Amino acid sequence: MKIEFLLNGETVHLDQASPTGTLLDYLREVRGLTGTKEGCNEGDCGACTVMVTDGEGAKALNACILFMPQLHGKSIRTVEGLASPSGEMHPVQQNMVDLHGSQCGFCTPGFIMSMAAAHQMGDTNHNDVLAGNLCRCTGYAPIVRAAKAAQSAPKPDWLQADAKAAPQVKTSLQSDVAFVPRTSDELADWYAENPDATLIGGATDVGLWVNKQLRDLAPVAFVGQIADLQGVEENDSGIAIGAGVTLTKLRAAVANRYPSFAELIRRYGSTQVRNAATIGGNVANGSPIGDGPPALIALGARVHLRCGDDFRDLAMEDFFIAYGKQDRKPGEFICGITIPNNPSGLKCYKISKRFDQDISALCGCFNITIAKDKVATARIAFGGMAATPKRATAVENALIGKPWTQGTVTKAMKKFASDYQPISDMRASADYRATTAKNLLQRYFDESNGLMTSVLEVRP
Ligand code: FAD
Ligand code: FES
Ligand code: FES
Repeated sequence: MKIEFLLNGETVHLDQASPTGTLLDYLREVRGLTGTKEGCNEGDCGACTVMVTDGEGAKALNACILFMPQLHGKSIRTVEGLASPSGEMHPVQQNMVDLHGSQCGFCTPGFIMSMAAAHQMGDTNHNDVLAGNLCRCTGYAPIVRAAKAAQSAPKPDWLQADAKAAPQVKTSLQSDVAFVPRTSDELADWYAENPDATLIGGATDVGLWVNKQLRDLAPVAFVGQIADLQGVEENDSGIAIGAGVTLTKLRAAVANRYPSFAELIRRYGSTQVRNAATIGGNVANGSPIGDGPPALIALGARVHLRCGDDFRDLAMEDFFIAYGKQDRKPGEFICGITIPNNPSGLKCYKISKRFDQDISALCGCFNITIAKDKVATARIAFGGMAATPKRATAVENALIGKPWTQGTVTKAMKKFASDYQPISDMRASADYRATTAKNLLQRYFDESNGLMTSVLEVRP
């Protein structure tokens, strides 16, 4: 497949880019740019972080789970191309040197690229920015000090030009085994004719099928470059979100109306993962431990699907039929999700072993509204408690219409056993999950009475 991009300021044309070849392999094996390191090769460690710039700005992305066609029309900077053409170091590089931010140095290029992308975007939430970069020897304090010291330095001129200099992409790309459509109409036609193809959004799941399971996915179609699936529209009836919207963009879009959902997304993977992963992919993969679906079910969201010229939509909870089975026909894809503008009391609780960059053991989302001291509405959904993301209808029924009191909550907590029979796995035991789910309802009740909890609080 023919693709075109900018690499460290130089235009690159590739006549035969492999549709599922990764940027990391291209950089290291074809270009000899070995500053970009391979650690885990599955999106966890950040050693392979590069900066990718497009019309939306600069993003840190993991090159190990980024397929070459995803870079068509974009500008890439690796650590080799971060200093000025005359060799002047980028402010984050200089501060890492000055403040002793590197010991063995294996993680350092990845840190530098995450810090540089954040610097370009004026993002000073350094702990969040660096949560997807693992360092085993320096420790984070000097690295965060370097990021802080660099934050007010001007953006380097040589990086400012990247978005404008990237090749203009106006038409779709097609080969025997891959399709990069520009519109959802094109995707609908192609997918109806190739219903066995694999769709690729951000490749944060699909990348692992290639790297770890060595699967051949052809033919493939890329959903992430389709402009009409990238929108977020907010109006009086709710929020309409295109399937290609990344978790980073979604987090910003829901921050005002649903701050607890935005906070949940902050703990979704890492900055690099959120910059790639799409909400369409997060729903479509049907994972029982995905973080998007429980929040969306609790909000009463609907999934919009398209197959050729046929459109349909269904309640988010009905999309998940059984483990690995979703209500999606051959040739049908998710084109968007809408969240209705209902009154909301949403609180999302992600329970995982680490605060940052961890998959949920369970994720409980509670949307309870109270009127005249009684429970007016309740929508509760969990990930990690069943084979699919699932609503807690028995608990909801035990709450609706009842006074919002400890007595009602205590009775409702018993109903979790009717809704869920969780399993034990490496993330948590069945008993832990069952106990914690009940306690999260108690936590919701306590928080509604002003007793706030912080999972980061350490008590002696
Ligand atoms: P892809 O990998 O591109 O695709 C996933 C699946 O969806 C594939 O089956 C694909 O064919 C299908 N698909 C994609 N788009 C569409 C569409 N529009 N219509 C129909 N089918 C489609 N997930 C969490 O929920 N929480 C986390 O904290 C989290 N942490 C992670 C950390 C790391 C390091 C990694 C690598 C992944 C993590 N994930 C997490 C999982 C992953 O990010 C999500 O499942 C992700 O949302 C998938 O989205 P994507 O766009 O990358 O999907
Ligand atoms: Fe670990 Fe890419 S090599 S995130
Ligand atoms: Fe060695 Fe970070 S400096 S892993």
